[in-house]
This record gives sequence, structure tokens and C-alpha cells, in this order.
Amino acid sequence: MGTRAISSILVTGALGQIGSELTAELRRRYGDGNVVASDLRPRPEGELGQAGPFEQVNVTDAEGLADICRRHGIDAIVHLAAVLSASGERDPLKAWHVNMAGLINALEIARDLELTQVVCPSSIAVFGAGCPKEDTPQETVLKPSTMYGVTKVAGELLCDYYVARYGVDARGLRYPGIVSAETLPGGGTTDYAVEIYYAAIEKGAYTCFLNEDTKLPMMYMPDCIKSTIDLMEADYDRLIHHGDFNVGSMSFSAGELTASIREHIPDFRTTYNPDYRQAIADSWPSSVDDTAAREEWDWRPEYDLRAMTEDMLTRLRARHEAGLLYR
Ligand code: NAD
Ligand code: SER
Repeated sequence: MGTRAISSILVTGALGQIGSELTAELRRRYGDGNVVASDLRPRPEGELGQAGPFEQVNVTDAEGLADICRRHGIDAIVHLAAVLSASGERDPLKAWHVNMAGLINALEIARDLELTQVVCPSSIAVFGAGCPKEDTPQETVLKPSTMYGVTKVAGELLCDYYVARYGVDARGLRYPGIVSAETLPGGGTTDYAVEIYYAAIEKGAYTCFLNEDTKLPMMYMPDCIKSTIDLMEADYDRLIHHGDFNVGSMSFSAGELTASIREHIPDFRTTYNPDYRQAIADSWPSSVDDTAAREEWDWRPEYDLRAMTEDMLTRLRARHEAGLLYR
């Protein structure tokens, strides 16, 4: 197929944890006017809503989504709108509906309008019973225990199906838990790894909903953005995989994350009170083997736990002092 240039991008779920920062970076690279932010929620007041075009749309509305693509001459969709793992267990049917209808709509529009590319993140939630916990391979048993994981496995298969059957350039990567300072996460099992930094700055103490020793794959937002854009811009002819790349960065438990925060705030304390999210975390890997991403599109993460903690605390502290921690 060869690599085709992208000039106009629609981001769904643009107001979420990842979308809010990825959209800003895409606008820097592709031009403010060429990246349409969209979400179920209305246009926000700040930079994201004002710097470039914004459309309020429900991704389950196929015609609404197609209309936006036609009006803005979109040639790539970065499809981020989804219901995540913890929220998905509270309302599994909603997770199925939003995650599957949203993705099939994006893929059908790509087929119909002959778009250049669709990017849809998958997740470590595709893994479950029967796969190795450490260095979980790219190709392994995929038996998730959450509805979110079920939708992500089905989503990967759908992306690969549209590549093989219709020649749609669909790409996806299995993000680990994403840690970020700009926008709070939206209902995942790894959300503790963001909340803990806010609590450290605000209160000096945190009650964690996972236990101390549960080690999960994680990634800092700058690497999440880099991985997504690297994959978007990768040479199609080098790709053997399409919708399901493992991407590794760092792995840690809540205990190890607490220790890294205590290097900066020695009195910081975490107590542990695991809830229903513990079973979800227990079903996921501790680390992943991302050889395919490294070989096919030169994936290299830049942040480790120490660098991430330093940056998170610096940024949140500055906001806290300005009275804008939760702005
Ligand atoms: P988020 O929950 O922070 O944001 C999702 C956004 O989608 C929200 O702004 C929400 O309003 C919007 N949305 C929800 N339902 C919608 C609908 N029906 N129509 C339109 N918009 C809708 O999620 P995120 O963390 O930014 O995740 C983005 C993508 O990355 C998702 O596909 C998610 O599964 C994947 N992912 C995220 C993580 C993580 O740790 N954040 C890890 C693995 C994979
Ligand atoms: N961080 C996400 C979640 O916890 C993983 O996909 O749901």
C-alpha cells in the first residue's frame, strides 16, 4: 500500500486523558486548523476548545461522525473515545456499545471515504488468564476477564480484518496504564498511578485501591504521545502487525511508586484498601515484550519511573502553588 501523507485529522474522545494532550501535539505538528477535536462533551472554554475546530458528537452516531469527516475533509481518524476498564465493569453493555459501535463506525467511514488511516488504541486489558505475566509476548492467549478487555480484543481483530479485507490502513497499540499531569484519567484500573501524585502534593497521604505489590506496565504521557505519533507516521510497508502492537515502557507496583515519591516527599504515606479493581489488575501482565514495535517502527521509550516522578511532581507542585491543581 505504501505510506500516504496525512493532512487533516479527526480526534474522537479528544477531551479525555490522552486526547487532551495528543490533540495539542497533533495540532503543533499538523497545524491547528487541520486537527478537529471531538467529544461527547461540549466544546470546552480553554485552549483545546479554542485553538482549532471542535465538534460535539457521539461516536455511536455513524452519520454524525461521517458528516464531520466530509465537512472537514478528514483523511485520518484517531479514535480515542471509549469506556475504560473500571467504568466498563460498572456498565458492561455501555462499554460494549460505545467501544464497538464507535470503532466500527470509524472503520466504515475510512472504507467508504477512502481515508488514509485510522488509529485506535488497544490496551494491556486484552490479556487475561493463560498468558505469561512477565514479558507478555505479542502473540499469546487473549482471554480478558473484563468487558473492556473483550472490546479491545474484538477491536484489534476488527482493525486487522479491515486491513486484510478492505485495505484500510488501521493501526493500534496496546497502551499500558498512562500517567499524566494535564487531565485526570477517566475510569481505568491504573488511575491510582495518577491520583497518587495529586494526593502527595495536596495531602501528603493516599489510600490506594490496589494492593502494595501489584506490578503493572505503565507509561508517562510524553511516551504515550510519542508512541502514537511514531506509529501513525511509520512506513506502512515495514508493518507486519497492524492493530495490536505491545508497547513497553516501565513497570512498577504502588509500593514502588510510593517509594519513588518519597525520594522527594519523605513523609508521604500510602495505605492500601483494595476494591473490585484489584481483580482486574490481577488479570493483567506485569510487563510486556514490545519487540515487534521496536523492530517494525523503531519504538523506544524515553521516561523511567524516576524521571516521570520528578516531572509529575514539578508540574503538579507549580499548579498547586498557583491554586490551579485541578483547573
Ligand atoms: P478517557 O476516559 O480519559 O477519555 C475518553 C473520552 O471519550 C472522554 O473525553 C469522553 O467524554 C469521550 N467519550 C466517551 N464516550 C463517548 C461517546 N460515546 N462519543 C464520543 N466521545 C465519548 O480515556 P483515555 O484514557 O484518554 O483513553 C483513550 C483511549 O486509549 C481509549 O481507547 C482507551 O481504551 C485507550 N487506553 C487508555 C489507557 C490509559 O491508561 N489512559 C490505557 C490503555 C488504553
Ligand atoms: N489504563 C487502562 C485502564 O485501566 C488500561 O487500558 O482501563
